[in-house]
Amino acid sequence: MQTDSALLSVRELVVRYRVNGSRRELLTAVNGVSFDIHAGSIFGLVGESGSGKTSLAHSIMQLTLPTSGEVQFHGKNLAHMKGSDLKKMRRNIQLAFQDPLASLSPRRSIQQSLIEPLDHFRIDAPEQRRARACRALETVGLEADVLLRFPHELSGGQRQRVALARALVTEPELIIADESVSSMDVSVQARIIELILNLRQQLGIAFLFIAHDLAVIQQLADHVGVMYLGKMIEIAPADRLFRQAAHPYTRALLEAVPVPDPAHGKPVALQGEVPSALTPPAGCVFHTRCPRVEDRCRVLDPLSNQINESGEKRTSHHVKCHLWNP
Ligand SMILES: Nc1ncnc2c1ncn2[C@@H]1O[C@H](COP(=O)(O)OP(=O)(O)OP(=O)(O)O)[C@@H](O)[C@H]1O
Ligand SMILES: [Mg+2]
Repeated sequence: MQTDSALLSVRELVVRYRVNGSRRELLTAVNGVSFDIHAGSIFGLVGESGSGKTSLAHSIMQLTLPTSGEVQFHGKNLAHMKGSDLKKMRRNIQLAFQDPLASLSPRRSIQQSLIEPLDHFRIDAPEQRRARACRALETVGLEADVLLRFPHELSGGQRQRVALARALVTEPELIIADESVSSMDVSVQARIIELILNLRQQLGIAFLFIAHDLAVIQQLADHVGVMYLGKMIEIAPADRLFRQAAHPYTRALLEAVPVPDPAHGKPVALQGEVPSALTPPAGCVFHTRCPRVEDRCRVLDPLSNQINESGEKRTSHHVKCHLWNP
């Protein structure tokens, strides 16, 4: 975990949902997650479907209230924010949704969708809002004529760009992009990745970039967090994670990243299914699928350990795995 002067700090965050409205039956979607995002950096969050990535994103935005733990933005606890502070925070952290068709209203023109947050946050005088919407479109490489069109009239790639423009229009410091490239073809995906890297470089915007796929994260992220059944099981600077992943789950995900060279060997698929989040395994949540499982993994939940390379005093590489217990 990183420290000092983070833009966003998440500490021991827990999100539980009631199942079928029951008070007793609870599903833990996020289980004690901590990490930091620094200004202008890209944090890649990866994990299989159901690992809790969207729940984490929504609880950061306070769209789902965390059950416990804390989210700080510029050192201020979001749960304690009220009135103008809360509004400012909402302007400063924007969400680019997983599925732009679902987040852009089909009955609203792109202009209406882009101007709506400007109206809401009272940014600029009303007559200047169209010009700001145009600038946001330009930033994502779209022409002004897109303003008068409707979501269904755009290609998938154009919709992704509009979703990013909508997130950008309020000039946020952090954009949470949830799976915005996974359903795209490779060339569109490559252009969106390039766009995000430019936004970071030119406007200094930080990203929490959520994906299933480590191949995408590798092209973007400065830091990477790996989630499994609600837990952040490994977190590391990106170069370190791709060079020296420590957790058997991260290694399995890395082995599943396709390589162009067939001589490299077949990817090692993970055995078995992800267990239900309603009845997670005791001990280490990954033990039922872990190739390195030991007796203690079945009963003891591993603590987070720092991994220092030789000569290194301070590291932001953390892993929850008994193999790394001192
Ligand atoms: N509103 C809800 N009520 C009850 N359970 C929920 C709710 N939302 C999510 N869950 C459950 O919480 C767990 C985490 O779901 P979440 O959507 O956060 O995963 P995810 O990592 O974003 O998955 P995906 O990659 O498929 O988008 C899953 O077991 C899911 O079924
Ligand atoms: Mg999700």
